[in-house]
Amino acid sequence: MRTHYCGVLRKDHIDQRVELCGWVHRRRDHGGVIFLDLRDHRGLVQVVFNPDTVDAFEIADDVRSEYVVQIEGRVRARLDGATNPDLATGEIEVLGDSIKILNRSRTIPFPLNEYSQPGEDIRLRYRYVDLRRPEMQSKLRLRSRVSSFIRRFLEAEDFVDVETPTLTKATPEGARDYIVPSRTQQGRFFALPQSPQLFKQMLMMAGMDRYYQIARCYRDEDLRHDRQPEFTQIDIEASFVEPSDVMSITERMLEGLFRETLGIELGRFPVLTYAQAMDRYGSDKPDLRNPLELIDVDEIVKDCEFAIFRTPANDPEGRVAAINVPGAIEALSRKQLDDLVDYVQAHGAKGLAYVKVNDLESGMEGLQSPILKFLDQKTIFQILEKVEAQRGDIVFFGADRSEIVNDSLGRFRNHVADLVGIERAGFKPCWVVEWPMFEKDGNGLSPAHHPFTQPACDIEKLREKPAEQLAHAYDIVVNGYELGGGSIRIHDPEMQNAVFDVLEMGQEASAKFGFLLEALELGCPPHGGIALGLDRLIMIMIGTDSIRDVVAFPKTQSAACLLTSAPSEVDRLQLRELGLQTR
Ligand code: AMO
Ligand code: AMP
Repeated sequence: MRTHYCGVLRKDHIDQRVELCGWVHRRRDHGGVIFLDLRDHRGLVQVVFNPDTVDAFEIADDVRSEYVVQIEGRVRARLDGATNPDLATGEIEVLGDSIKILNRSRTIPFPLNEYSQPGEDIRLRYRYVDLRRPEMQSKLRLRSRVSSFIRRFLEAEDFVDVETPTLTKATPEGARDYIVPSRTQQGRFFALPQSPQLFKQMLMMAGMDRYYQIARCYRDEDLRHDRQPEFTQIDIEASFVEPSDVMSITERMLEGLFRETLGIELGRFPVLTYAQAMDRYGSDKPDLRNPLELIDVDEIVKDCEFAIFRTPANDPEGRVAAINVPGAIEALSRKQLDDLVDYVQAHGAKGLAYVKVNDLESGMEGLQSPILKFLDQKTIFQILEKVEAQRGDIVFFGADRSEIVNDSLGRFRNHVADLVGIERAGFKPCWVVEWPMFEKDGNGLSPAHHPFTQPACDIEKLREKPAEQLAHAYDIVVNGYELGGGSIRIHDPEMQNAVFDVLEMGQEASAKFGFLLEALELGCPPHGGIALGLDRLIMIMIGTDSIRDVVAFPKTQSAACLLTSAPSEVDRLQLRELGLQTR
């Protein structure tokens, strides 16, 4: 139906006859001449209709925004003074002599120009209109280029794409399952996979050696700006590997991807242990673009008079940490400083002590702080030296149980960096390794990753002191986002049983994972892998903080699709066939 895309026409095409198809972006009537900006996914071009082509002129007069039309005409140079340097096609226009309306459009629910900022609900309700906007188009097209690169890269490395079931049994990844009732076995349910974890392990037992899949996963969890109930993983597994093998493949894949799609060199990925990440950044997903760090001052304040510091400093589960923010006296208003206290309190801290360094030379006189009265000069100056404070800086403190200090100061670190204008541009990936095997969960333990992760100890130690054991697990973190996680897996059935025991899953484990335990007894190679969130990867690459921007048809915060009104009710007959009744 067309000879060219609208957005590709240039001076080279002058005097050529062209046929174009697209949407009427804008129609202008300039005293007897009609201008249509015709749009397709490659861009806009101006088409002009003169009254001397009577039939075409009449139709052009009739069209409105978002009508779908086909035009024919001749490319010509725009007159001097009529060129538009902001438009790629701005040096030319098409003199139209024929136009056909392929489809009319009602007035669309929001204008598609760069000035309108429609609310997200209306954009999602009319997503197909929203996706006509060039910025949305480019996000989806980048996503396609990313998955294409990933496939080419992994296939060149001998990975085999295998599809795994989506009507399956629960896989524990820490979220609730979406379940699907069975009609043929009433009262029984499938679960949609939270990940292909167990199937990819069984593919290793099947001798596939290297597997990948761009896999859809489903998790019924509280949604946040970086989570969707259904999302996509770049899922990878390989046999006879160590953590460094999986990490190296992942690094090379991301390096190649950023080079090919963005023209950016990622460089080496620093490796932090989980303990180092918590110590220095208060987070297991540190944003390394932010230079601020948490610095321990426990030793310095152990014997001070200020109980708020002294008590946690002497408690093995406690921590007193400081963050020096350069130039903060100038950069932060009184109100912002007060708001920072509320900020950490909203994240569990009891307070936020701070010392303003007006001048380092004049002793206590040069400092300003609500806690000066509780600390002697020697203690304060030891702290200032340790955190390398300079004139103009503010040193902030967190003192409490380590978890609270890490969580509140970890978030504070990024928040205050934004307030004082520390630029966080570019991409800073890192690995976080040597994770704890378990985390506290009420009175018991739950897996820090999933229960198939290989502990870095023997079975005896695991049973004896499970809470202290580390795992052969690694996360890839970029710009403060957990992009992916993986591990070496348990391949010894006894170890797998020991982990289930620690998790107090005894009976439940044999009912749920009997097939896995059996498979482990039938010739299972050592294996490991990783899964990267594809949606999060695209989010990071384009620098948006909403995952909904990079999914064609996303769900809202309440896990609904505003376009199709899913989830929706089903009729009684359908429920009856499934043997279900709603309460
Ligand atoms: P994990 O649970 O860490 O590991 O998931 C891997 C990656 O998937 C992405 N992700 C999500 N993205 C969008 N919305 C969500 N709700 C969501 N949940 C997770 C994240 C995350 O890092 N089977 C293991 C992997 C393995 O061990 O190989 C797993 O699923 O980017
Ligand atoms: P208070 O004696 O409670 O008024 O606290 C004195 C100062 O210490 C105030 O600036 C508080 O914000 C701060 N503060 C209180 N509790 C903590 C804490 N757990 N960690 C850091 N600072 C705190």
